Amino acid sequence: MKNSQEFVAWFRAATPYIHGFRGQTFVVAFGGEVVADGKFVALTHDLNLLQSLGVRLVLVHGARPQTETRLSQRGLTPHYVDGIRVTDGVALDCVIEASGTLGVEISALLSMGIAESPMAGSAIRVATGNFVTARPVGVVEGVDFQYTGRVRKIDAVGIERRLEDGEIVLLPPLGYSPTGEIYNLTVEEVATTAAVALQAAKLIFLTDTPGAVNAHGELASALSAQQAENLLQDTEQQPEDIRFYLPCAVRACRQGVARVHLLDRHRDGAVLLELFTSDGVGTLVTPDIPDVLRAATLEDVPGLLAVIEPLEAEGALVKRDRVLLETEIERFTVLLHDGRVIGCVALYPYPEEGCAELACLAVTPEFRNRGRGDVLLRHVVEQAQALGINQLFLLSARTGQWFAERGFEETEVSALPAGRQQLYNYRRRSKVFVKSLRTE
Ligand SMILES: CC(C)(COP(=O)(O)OP(=O)(O)OC[C@H]1O[C@@H](n2cnc3c(N)ncnc32)[C@H](O)[C@@H]1OP(=O)(O)O)[C@@H](O)C(=O)NCCC(=O)NCCS
Repeated sequence: MKNSQEFVAWFRAATPYIHGFRGQTFVVAFGGEVVADGKFVALTHDLNLLQSLGVRLVLVHGARPQTETRLSQRGLTPHYVDGIRVTDGVALDCVIEASGTLGVEISALLSMGIAESPMAGSAIRVATGNFVTARPVGVVEGVDFQYTGRVRKIDAVGIERRLEDGEIVLLPPLGYSPTGEIYNLTVEEVATTAAVALQAAKLIFLTDTPGAVNAHGELASALSAQQAENLLQDTEQQPEDIRFYLPCAVRACRQGVARVHLLDRHRDGAVLLELFTSDGVGTLVTPDIPDVLRAATLEDVPGLLAVIEPLEAEGALVKRDRVLLETEIERFTVLLHDGRVIGCVALYPYPEEGCAELACLAVTPEFRNRGRGDVLLRHVVEQAQALGINQLFLLSARTGQWFAERGFEETEVSALPAGRQQLYNYRRRSKVFVKSLRTE
């Protein structure tokens, strides 16, 4: 910071974050490398700051390099299958020793309170315990993973109590079974399950690289869970550790964690830069924005036109101009994503004949093949049933197959209500489909 004015401006800009974070639960996960590289001292200062601002912290540590050192001291080589350690009895001893020592070292660093250091005046209490229940991975495709486990349950109530008391909770990559066994777990699984169990506001992974990358190999600074999942279709593209962390980020977001951050552990102050500046420095993964389905209003007409005009141009839908849409707007339902109209459907009842026409079912191409057509169809069926309508018909030039797969049957133009037959465009030669809505 060049001058005092900059400092003042920066500190003031951090105020909303400080307000927002108070009382929130953050789960911070890091591999044993952070401690092995001597980076934990700087991280301790940042964690201390967060705690002093009222953030409830759960730290989850790994112990891979420390375990590896112990294995090699015994002349053994680690055994991994698909990136997961096969933990035999000796390896488990090494994991227990490594985790135990690391836990003590981390607690010691968090206990510092040297005057004239960022830790001055701090009095952090660290809580550890049997908060994680585990089960064995077992035999997978002929490989017996022995003491490698999966998380079975997190004692969220126990952790909450410690957090309420102002303590920092430290979770090792170990879990206990009801039969008294100890299992080796991955740091990412313990952290993700804990964050979900606690419904944490943030799950932060300290990673070896700056974050996830997009299709061009550039840092992806913000991703929705769906976008992250799409990137994972080509896992080879992602840095090695991100291949483990990104699926966890998607899972956490889908199960109630508000934000997941992947941050470069080599960058000093990455946690503070990510949390207290608007741009951030790593990859932020957020839950998918849910679609909104509602009755259309006149304000939706431009959005509706943007969806249907390209389909009219290619002949998939009949032409409806702005005036017609405005006149018939109450017939339409719109599907919105992040405020944008991405789909629609219309229902034209013929009450005297006890039937209704389903029309203008459309989803913008980039949002297709994810069940949205079905959502709109289900909605319009429910709408018709609520009106006491027992038969739905539609005219389609190209999408008959889609409707046929959803229980519609092709019929003759003569089966249409008389009023609709008169409007039938014989040049367009659309096919007519019907579906009975009667429930036997
Ligand atoms: C029909 C439409 C609304 C479906 O939207 P969607 O959000 O992709 O629908 P869903 O995700 O629920 O269904 C996708 C499935 O239908 C299949 N599908 C899409 N168009 C199809 C067609 N014309 N015929 C047969 N199947 C079709 C997809 O291949 C996919 O199948 P899969 O899940 O086995 O891969 C969309 O393709 C569209 O807007 N089409 C142009 C407008 C149109 O013709 N409307 C009907 C006239 S009223």
